[in-house]
Amino acid sequence: MRQLSEKISEIVPSATLEISNKAQKMQREGIDIISLSIGEPDFDTPQHIKDACIDALRRGQTHYAPSNGIPELISAICEKITKENNVPCKPEQVIVTCGAKYAIYEAMEAVLNPQDEVILLTPAWVSYEPCIRIAGGKTVFHPVNTKTFQLDDSVLERVNAKTKMIVVNSPSNPSGAVFNQYSMKLVADLCTDFDLYALSDEIYEKLVYGKEHIALASIGDMAKRTITINGFSKSYAMTGWRLGYAVAPLEIIREMSKVQQHSVSQATTFAMWGGLAALKGDQQCIEVMRQEFDKRRKYVLRELGLMGYQIAPADGAFYVFIKVDGDDMNVASHWLTNAQVAGTPGSAFYSPGWIRLSYATSMERLQEAMQRIRRTNGKK
Ligand SMILES: Cc1ncc(COP(=O)(O)O)c(C=O)c1O
Repeated sequence: MRQLSEKISEIVPSATLEISNKAQKMQREGIDIISLSIGEPDFDTPQHIKDACIDALRRGQTHYAPSNGIPELISAICEKITKENNVPCKPEQVIVTCGAKYAIYEAMEAVLNPQDEVILLTPAWVSYEPCIRIAGGKTVFHPVNTKTFQLDDSVLERVNAKTKMIVVNSPSNPSGAVFNQYSMKLVADLCTDFDLYALSDEIYEKLVYGKEHIALASIGDMAKRTITINGFSKSYAMTGWRLGYAVAPLEIIREMSKVQQHSVSQATTFAMWGGLAALKGDQQCIEVMRQEFDKRRKYVLRELGLMGYQIAPADGAFYVFIKVDGDDMNVASHWLTNAQVAGTPGSAFYSPGWIRLSYATSMERLQEAMQRIRRTNGKK
């Protein structure tokens, strides 16, 4: 048989796979595994959002819709971006996608030419690099400061004539860090000075604890060079709906739209009506989830702190990122085998020596998990 695509075969399966495969095998054998490797809220989608989707189905919203999204949702996104994020936005600058992930993929396809370089700040979520690679670009990794998890001037050293874009994800998956004004301004200055695009993934913007989320596109001239990625998965517990969006300069949205038209056509029509209810409805549902996450976050931080771990500033999202002694794959494997707790090795996020634990699980399970880790570490 002929050789399959080299481009795709070069994409390595995520480092998380080994641990998660092992965890699943243990679960099938009847072992009580506590999974702290989860990347989605453990809450159900709020009822009013589900009702709006069901109502849309009843109204016959089961046909093709405009490729970039139903006008009602586009206009709600525009309003949200303008009012909440302080970013001017016209309807033509919005595209509704099959999850935020697809918006990222489309953005890379729209912007990158072969050999264009993209600065990826690490630790970084797992899907940016493969999307850059599929689009033909080259990822240039740059670690943030591993004490503050903020950016410093050293990022300048990564810029050369081939640099085209920088990816920012604040609040961050996996670190939970929220970029402050200084870091955001640094990104903005870099983009302006070297004429770069920025992809700003703000999907965790609503999950911040005592910190302010800053929209990159709201700084200086960044609206004309930023692709803002956002969605419904994390804020409204809608991971399975596959609904996200991007806001960007018109010329970029036009190109993203071509990718969308000739691949998935559009996001699911009735799901978009659910998304509209999410944006237009009572936002208290987010606050209820955020407060619950905050309680768990404080608990986990206290427990891990007592165990002596160095922890990244967990100011956002629903993850804690902890420094471990030795090889993170070995530690994760050791915890899985001996504590039956599944975490995600930092290597998966280009940050060996760290482990990500998600607190998107019940307080009871978190308490049990902390006890098990403490016992496994030889503490009472
Ligand atoms: C940082 C980040 N961006 C994007 C996504 C994808 O979100 P969606 O479910 O909307 O595709 C995730 C999901 O884990 C994420 O953590």
